Amino acid sequence: MPHSFSPADSVVVVTGGGSGIGRALAVHAGAEGARAVVVVDRDEGEARATADRLTRAATAVFAADVTDGAAIAGIVEHVEEEIGPIDLWCSNAGVHRGEGLGQPADWEISVGVHVRAHVHAARYVVPRMVARGRGTLLVTASAAGLLSDVESAPYAVTKHAAVALAEWLSIRHDDDGIGVSCLAPQGVKTAMNSARRDGRTGFGTDYLEPDAVAAKTFEALAAGTFLILPHPEVASYEQRRAGNRERWLAGMRRLAARVSA
Ligand SMILES: NC(=O)c1ccc[n+]([C@@H]2O[C@H](COP(=O)([O-])OP(=O)(O)OC[C@H]3O[C@@H](n4cnc5c(N)ncnc54)[C@H](O)[C@@H]3O)[C@@H](O)[C@H]2O)c1
Repeated sequence: MPHSFSPADSVVVVTGGGSGIGRALAVHAGAEGARAVVVVDRDEGEARATADRLTRAATAVFAADVTDGAAIAGIVEHVEEEIGPIDLWCSNAGVHRGEGLGQPADWEISVGVHVRAHVHAARYVVPRMVARGRGTLLVTASAAGLLSDVESAPYAVTKHAAVALAEWLSIRHDDDGIGVSCLAPQGVKTAMNSARRDGRTGFGTDYLEPDAVAAKTFEALAAGTFLILPHPEVASYEQRRAGNRERWLAGMRRLAARVSA
């Protein structure tokens, strides 16, 4: 059964809220009537800059590393005691680390931010939502988690893990009244990739503005949709992958050759 999320009067937490998609999610939540928007980011200054854009909602800012379970547990406790029950947790922080196979540090950071951080949200936020019989968890993965990222193995692999975890949580917690959604965009015009390319993504899709991604996300959350695809083409790419893996891999090899040329 789809669990719909409505921002009106809600308490929303956004990790990675100091930039890009996270900032747009926070601003959108505030504009749509959230009672409070909590911005979590390792960059306190940018998190504050996001909070400053929120004129209608109460705000709180936490400078924290999402890979730190104790820090996340503390934030959850503080928000629930001081502000109110969390209606939507956007587990959104991300990093694009590692060229090719990447270095051990790239894997450590990518696993931390794209896997462990979501597990922390599942461990510290979801049980409180289960106890109330309502709440929504949004995991920002990536189209790279459904397809691949020909440039970075740590990114591709850990984003697949993020999708898998979101699916697992949806399977296990739907009956508890919990909505789980997985946001899987392709290129979005943010700090993460502005230095890498501009114009069209390697897949030939357009880069989207973070605001457009946030608007699609809140539409999908209202409908209780699990997989949120701001680039709708990704659905057909995923079908091609599942329908004929050999042909899909051949196409991806051609894409990798174009990107590295
Ligand atoms: N930009 C894209 O093209 C794109 C495409 C698909 C998915 N995504 C995903 O969207 C999410 C948001 O990315 P973005 O494009 O807005 O990037 P961004 O770089 O603009 O923002 C990421 C934010 O996460 C924060 N962050 C990173 N590591 C952190 C940590 N350990 N603890 C706390 N905060 C941390 C950063 O400080 C930054 O404010 C990421 O999960 C990313 O992988 C982005």
